[in-house]
Amino acid sequence: MSLLEEKPRFSGFLELEASNQPLLPGSKTLRRRGHTVRHHLYRLLPYVLALLATTNIVTLAFVFAKHPCPSSSPIYPKLEGVDETYRWTQFTSTLFSQSQYVARPSPEVDSLWKDLGAEIDDILIPAHYGKAADVSPGHAFVEFEPGNPSFVVSVEAFHQLHCLNLLRKSLFYNADYYKGLGVKEFRNHGTMLQMHIDHCLDMLRERLMCTADAGILPSFYTIYNTTTPDFKRDHHCRDYGSLQAWGRAAKALPKGMVLSPPEGAFVLEHVP
Ligand SMILES: *[C@@H]1O[C@H](CO)[C@@H](O)[C@H](O)[C@H]1NC(C)=O
Repeated sequence: MSLLEEKPRFSGFLELEASNQPLLPGSKTLRRRGHTVRHHLYRLLPYVLALLATTNIVTLAFVFAKHPCPSSSPIYPKLEGVDETYRWTQFTSTLFSQSQYVARPSPEVDSLWKDLGAEIDDILIPAHYGKAADVSPGHAFVEFEPGNPSFVVSVEAFHQLHCLNLLRKSLFYNADYYKGLGVKEFRNHGTMLQMHIDHCLDMLRERLMCTADAGILPSFYTIYNTTTPDFKRDHHCRDYGSLQAWGRAAKALPKGMVLSPPEGAFVLEHVP
């Protein structure tokens, strides 16, 4: 917060410097005054440079504080017990690799996605997480005991996996199976289901562009006189297992709990 307060003060000082400039051209008197100003400026040069260096450091500190690298979100809490260490991890998916996560629809493949965390939803986090996570009292909370509120939240990574899983279920060669089951997202049909799928696709687009991966995929020659990308590249990855374990252990909103707004809560009048 103190960094935020410092920024306008520096720009105010720079504006003050710039406002001396019109004194430089013009009448003799003004020119002389201009010389004086310029002279003073030279004497001030070391200080100005020092100040510029400071403002740069402050700006950089501000930028990096807001956009910690290589985090997944600009603002996110350090979840207690989640390992924040990033490790080099080799991706395994290739054009002809047969991942279990894209096996033909079955209860088994569904439970694999569930194990990943794709169904972790509506977690209760204690109020003290709020500030670090940019959660405000305007957001939904429940209070099982007075004075001890918990926010009703979901975690981006789990929601993103839910979205990817919904895209998988909606693929033209999988959709009939899930429409037939008619559970979860597929309890809806037509427009509502389409809106859900479109939302998921667009959120994943935003996620991918936000942390746009500038990694390079080199190619290999093949015997067919073509090249093929080398997909098995090393990536700097979060310990997903640690986040997954946190999510599984997190306090879930009791099933079927009616979320009626408490007295004085901020209430949306339409669903955005
Ligand atoms: C690949 O190109 C070489 C040289 O042009 C040729 O001799 C060979 O038959 C080609 N192989 C295939 C699989 O097309």
